[in-house]
Amino acid sequence: PLEEYDDCWLRYDRIDEGDRPASHRRYCQHAYVSDGAPELGAVRDELRRGIGGLLGREPHLWHHPPRTVDGFLAIGTPDEMAVVRDIVAVETVESLADGGYCMRTGRWNGADCLVVTAPTDRGLVYGTFHLLRLLATGRPIDDLDVIEEPATADRLIDHWDNPFRKSVERGYAGQSIFDWELLPELRPRYEDYARLLASVGINGVVVNNVNTQLPPRESANPAHDELEGWRLLETRSLEKLTSLAGLFRRYGIRTLLSVNFAAPMRIGELDTADPLDPEVEAWWKRKADELYERVPDFGGFLVKADSEGQPGPYEYDRDHVDGANVLARALEPHGGRVWWRAFVYGSHEDRAVQAAETFAPLDGEFHDNVTVQIKNGPIDFQPREPVSTLFGAMPETNVGCELQITQEYTGQGVHCCYHVPMWKEILEFDVDGEGTAVTDVLGDEGEGIAGVGAVGDDYNWTGHYLSQANLYGFGRLAWNPDLDAETITEEWVRLTFGTEPAVVETVSDILMASWEATIKYTTGGLGLMHMMDNGSEFLENHYDPSPEEWPGYHGATADGIGVDRTSAGSGYAPQFRDPVAERYESVDTCPEELLLFFHHLPWEHELEDGTTVVQRLYDNCFEGVETVRELRADWASLEGEIDHERYRHTMERFDEHVEHAAIWRDTLVSFFYEHSGIPDERGRVPRA
Ligand code: GCU
Repeated sequence: PLEEYDDCWLRYDRIDEGDRPASHRRYCQHAYVSDGAPELGAVRDELRRGIGGLLGREPHLWHHPPRTVDGFLAIGTPDEMAVVRDIVAVETVESLADGGYCMRTGRWNGADCLVVTAPTDRGLVYGTFHLLRLLATGRPIDDLDVIEEPATADRLIDHWDNPFRKSVERGYAGQSIFDWELLPELRPRYEDYARLLASVGINGVVVNNVNTQLPPRESANPAHDELEGWRLLETRSLEKLTSLAGLFRRYGIRTLLSVNFAAPMRIGELDTADPLDPEVEAWWKRKADELYERVPDFGGFLVKADSEGQPGPYEYDRDHVDGANVLARALEPHGGRVWWRAFVYGSHEDRAVQAAETFAPLDGEFHDNVTVQIKNGPIDFQPREPVSTLFGAMPETNVGCELQITQEYTGQGVHCCYHVPMWKEILEFDVDGEGTAVTDVLGDEGEGIAGVGAVGDDYNWTGHYLSQANLYGFGRLAWNPDLDAETITEEWVRLTFGTEPAVVETVSDILMASWEATIKYTTGGLGLMHMMDNGSEFLENHYDPSPEEWPGYHGATADGIGVDRTSAGSGYAPQFRDPVAERYESVDTCPEELLLFFHHLPWEHELEDGTTVVQRLYDNCFEGVETVRELRADWASLEGEIDHERYRHTMERFDEHVEHAAIWRDTLVSFFYEHSGIPDERGRVPRA
């Protein structure tokens, strides 16, 4: 049914009778689904689509318990359905967090029955998608006893979409899928987007860019400059927002907005946005009331303040607490939340130390309905960074982790770079050396994970077809960070390309190897980063190599390379808790993959296996490109095994990926040689 765009991992292609477990038909021809909430309409539609597609016949949807059939599905909350209560104890269901669900098989009234139940309607949506995932990946369903709960309460997508301009900051998949000129009229695609998100457990969408005011662009339509992100908070836009929020609600997704801190002046008539001014306080309250009157489940505000040209409380000599709390007080009576970003700059030469220095002293002062949203690392979504020290430094504050799904620094729309293994490394990181992982820090009500979106209006949604796996994996990991990368990957491949074992293995292996390769040819693999071209005011880059542009990030000199971030240097290492701090502080214990992030070392410093730093940098750059060549060859082996369209699209990307990775390699190898004067001992010469 989806023609103008791909259906991603919700393909629901027919599985031949002989290839599918008999239990699929036994339980899925009849479904009894409770009534009422909008989410249940979504459940019913999805059963029709999913079962209709996979089994070749839509289920009969019952409005009361079927007593004349010998197998059926029952989907509802316990208070609505006796069959549910008979098969799953009410206390079990009620003990689950919002979004959690149970799936269990049993016998009822002499028939086989599969129950999907949850304490909230949103949980029923997730349970339904889980069931359909089992069907689509060919798993039997006759002996199920599943209890699922999200690990973290809020699992958000942050769109960096510029409304009205339709562009997407750091987006590589075409224009924004949201058409604010057309809204409140809805495009069918919004619903399919909501389905994709709900199917992996996403429960919130911030619809606009954190940069709610942008520098004017020469090429842009001047009329569009008038219509920037901050304007979505204007009364005239709220009808549009209301319409979109109503659609998302069906899938258990709350809508949020990025707001401009100076809104009381820009939208309102005030001459200040001072957070301690009573009129400013009253303005935000009125605005929140107005919003909630239309969107009662509105999720809240995301704010980028005092960073990269966005206004904030500093203008009035106030701090981030004052700024966040005035918004929080306005949202509080309605159950809304402020996501206040910790991505800030300051006077420090090394910006890595800035976020913790600014925010750690404010621990405990934010309102309960404020979440401090921290990027995974201290720099900016680099191919590999150490984890942000802030995760261990704000025990009395609700914190959120911001990851980037879009591939700003990992090859954009061209390179295949699968982020799930990177996110696993981040989420599992032990912040105190006592086994407290980043995910443990995110476990309370009001905490969560936000992913910077990757979706645009391209046919395939994400630009590079394989980048769909990053969106899928983000949702699955946000829901359950304990899932291993291989499991998520295999799931995605089976849903996307079918269950043929050779295809599953080849595509999974390609994805799993891609991130390490990217690290190697874009950084040399020892913790260097940000050696990319910054573009210009009118052209966003971060794609091509340009290592001379930002000397502060790599610290290359004639005698060595790397940045001293120990206590003798910029002081990032000691911001960690001991013993983590100690591990990074010493050259001997610092892990090799982050060595040059924390230490400035002589080019000929010997690594553990006796190889010198400069030689390892060369080796890694060459190896990274070699791996990409192999991945390209592996992809080529899929010709005829998958449909030609997707085969060809990805093949073309791989052709360009190999070329561009080689450009990276050659630029970095020349750069290392120019600074060190030490040739590659294996005599490899970069192309001119
Ligand atoms: C990066 C990115 C910007 C973005 C900023 C942010 O610097 O390149 O486009 O606005 O992060 O996260 O606020």
